[in-house]
Amino acid sequence: MADSDDFTFCEISAQDDLAENVSSEKIIAEAPLKEPERGMSESAVETEDPITAARQPIKRSKVPFEKGYSQMDWLKLTRTHPDLAGLKGQTNRRLISLDEVKQHKKEGPIWTVLKGRVYNISPYMKFHPGGVDMLMKAAGRDCTALFNKYHAWVNAEFLLEKCLVGFLDESQ
Ligand code: HEM
Repeated sequence: MADSDDFTFCEISAQDDLAENVSSEKIIAEAPLKEPERGMSESAVETEDPITAARQPIKRSKVPFEKGYSQMDWLKLTRTHPDLAGLKGQTNRRLISLDEVKQHKKEGPIWTVLKGRVYNISPYMKFHPGGVDMLMKAAGRDCTALFNKYHAWVNAEFLLEKCLVGFLDESQ
């Protein structure tokens, strides 16, 4: 069906598309590399050019989620599961030492510390968009620095609210 009024099938003529791609590639390819001006140090040129001055971003790769493990599925689970933290009725206001967190590295519930809060991250493992292996780096330790390195913007306080086991006892 080639109805020009039907915008759900937006037709792009192959030639137009190609022409556009070629020209934009050409612009990038042909952009002159900036030579240092006389009397100007290399670093001065680097900081002047926003492209070269920008720090190299860290490599981040999202892992495709298994069926049933999307972020929406996680949100649904947090609303329906009665005990994601695995506290069996215990309070989640308890002060927890780093030593106790370290004991939850492999077997049983996996704990981590994030911004002073202790979470049971076992239930979130398969939902983590960065993958299980990445999240396992947080097991049994304070992962705040790692977390911020990869995605400081993620609202973990909200995402892991139901996984809260307690607060890190910083007095030790
Ligand atoms: C402990 C709590 C954590 C939570 C709640 C969490 C949550 C998330 C969320 C929501 C995303 C998707 C971000 C986006 O789409 O912009 C993500 C991606 C990712 N996370 Fe985490 N994360 C946690 C810990 C970590 C740790 C400790 C690491 C590294 C060791 C890590 C590595 C990654 C990576 C590599 C990605 C993929 C980034 C991307 O390309 O979008 N995460 N995480």
